[in-house]
Amino acid sequence: MTATPAGMTYADYLALDRLLSAQKPLSGLHDEMLFIVIHQTKELWLKQMLHELRLAIALLDEDHYAASYKAMARIGRIQSVMTLSWDVLSTLTPVDYTAFRDVLGTSSGFQSVQFRELEYRLGIKDPRFLEHYSPGSDARVRLESALEEPSLRDSSHAALERSGFDLGDRSEAAVGDAWLQVYKDADRWFDLYQLAEKLVDLDDALAMWRHKHVLTVERIIGNKPGTGGSPGAAYLRSTLDKRAFPELWSMRTGL
Ligand code: HEM
Repeated sequence: MTATPAGMTYADYLALDRLLSAQKPLSGLHDEMLFIVIHQTKELWLKQMLHELRLAIALLDEDHYAASYKAMARIGRIQSVMTLSWDVLSTLTPVDYTAFRDVLGTSSGFQSVQFRELEYRLGIKDPRFLEHYSPGSDARVRLESALEEPSLRDSSHAALERSGFDLGDRSEAAVGDAWLQVYKDADRWFDLYQLAEKLVDLDDALAMWRHKHVLTVERIIGNKPGTGGSPGAAYLRSTLDKRAFPELWSMRTGL
C-alpha cells in the first residue's frame, strides 16, 4: 500500500489536472467535445473491464466460482453503461458530425488496443488484427500476450476438465457436448451451469453493444467508408456474429 500524501485533495487523488486537460478538439466546433469524451470514457471503462476480467479468470482457475461471477457481473454492468452511451452519441446528427469528421484523419475505434485485448481475453482470438500494429510496439506486445495467455474461454474449458469432462482437443463439438451435458443435468453441475449463463451474458452484452454501434454509425454516416479504411457499416455488420462462447449458443438447439 502507498502512503497517502499529506493534504491530498480530490483533484490530486484523481489526477484531474491530467484527466481534464486531455480533451483537445481540433476543429473548434461545439460537437467535437462529445465525440472525444465518449471515446475517452469508453477507454476508461475498457480498462476497468480488463481489470475485472483478469480477476475473473484467476478466480475461476482456482475454482472460486462465486467470486468469479461477482467480477463478471461487474463487467456486465459496465457493458450496459457502454451500450446506453450510444444514446448520448445519437444526439450527434450527420450534419454535426460531418462538419468535423475530416479532423479525425485515419484514426478509428478500430485501432483501440484495449477493445481488441478485451476480445482476445474473452476468447475471440483472431490473430489477423495484430497486423495493424508494428512489430515490437507496446500495442503489439500487449496483444501478443493476450493471444498467448489463457482467455476466459480457455479457463472455462479448464474448469470443465477439472470437473471430469474429457474435452480431448477442445474442438467445438467436444466443448458443445460437454456444455450440453451440464445443461441436461443442471442440478448436478450447478456451478458450471451458472458459469455458462454468466458467459452467455457477456457474449450477449457485447453483441448488443455491437448492434447499437452499427445502428448509430448508419444513423450518422449511412454507408460511407470508415475513417479507418473499412467499408464502414458493412464491416461492422460482419462482426455481429462474433461470439467468445459459440458452443454455448449452438448447444441450445440440442436441449
Ligand atoms: C460518429 C460516431 C462513430 C462512427 C461514425 C464510427 C464508425 C466506425 C467504423 C466505420 C468502424 C469500422 C472501422 C473503420 O473503417 O473506421 C468503427 C470501428 C470501431 N468503432 Fe466506431 N464509430 C463511431 C463511434 C464509436 C464510439 C463512440 C466507440 C466507442 C465507444 C467506437 C468504437 C469502435 C470500435 C471498438 C471499433 C472496432 C470494431 C471491430 O473491429 O469489431 N466507435 N467505427
